Amino acid sequence: MGYLQGEKPITITKLLSMHAESEKITMLTAYDSTMASLLNRCGVETILVGDSLGNVIQGFNSTTPVTIEQMAYHTACVARANTQAFLLADLPFASYGDPAQALDSAAELMRAGADMVKLEGGGEWQVEIIRYLVERSVPVCAHLGLLPQSVHLLGGYKVQGRSKDAATIMLEQALACQAAGAQMVVLEAIPSTLGEKITAELHIPTIGIGAGPDCSGQVLVLQDMLGISPGKPPKFVKNFMDGHTSIEAAIKAYVREVKSGKFPDLEHAFAG
Ligand code: KIV
Repeated sequence: MGYLQGEKPITITKLLSMHAESEKITMLTAYDSTMASLLNRCGVETILVGDSLGNVIQGFNSTTPVTIEQMAYHTACVARANTQAFLLADLPFASYGDPAQALDSAAELMRAGADMVKLEGGGEWQVEIIRYLVERSVPVCAHLGLLPQSVHLLGGYKVQGRSKDAATIMLEQALACQAAGAQMVVLEAIPSTLGEKITAELHIPTIGIGAGPDCSGQVLVLQDMLGISPGKPPKFVKNFMDGHTSIEAAIKAYVREVKSGKFPDLEHAFAG
């Protein structure tokens, strides 16, 4: 199960070779040391210190209040306990508006222990930021589809890429992010058919969250998949505590179901 067989820390090289061999990549969010070491024990290969901490830790109704200092603090908390997983951290809202600011912010997250930073959007300016960071040795994961940092612009959390034009633009953006040097792409809340198409066209791994079963890997917010987030969960969230009596068993079930392709099924995916 996952990296536990080898017990070496996961590197980007390992993730790229898993992708090349069609082995599904597991990712979950964590924001603290206890959960980071639990995810290590369960064989989760990649941990994301997501700016979703604005929702699940800080109690805001969006990620936009989260600051780079807060991201660095939580990244350091996770990094201190993480001995195995590849560690991604989100560049939060308005922390990468120009190349110099993006490099300062990324450096702060990497000094805190991140192996890679993630930023939202695939427009021309984000692609330039990705190129600028990668040229300066900062590994980057792009994030396309539903962009939570743009929720106030979008007018809510809505499935993206449903029209033919929107799907074409998203595929072009994914290719542009890859050409700029991104080594992974998170795809959030898009039709499964588009998740499949983007994954087939890219050579870097795609990590889906509501993007269907054909992505190279899957991610969920930890509190969501444990069924402890307040309110109605998004359609793509499965409560892995159902049928399990411990958090550890639930996370191990997630790893098994992602690896085997059982999760996500139709119930947790979007039609076109
Ligand atoms: O912030 C986060 O947790 C994320 C995931 C939802 C992919 O970006």
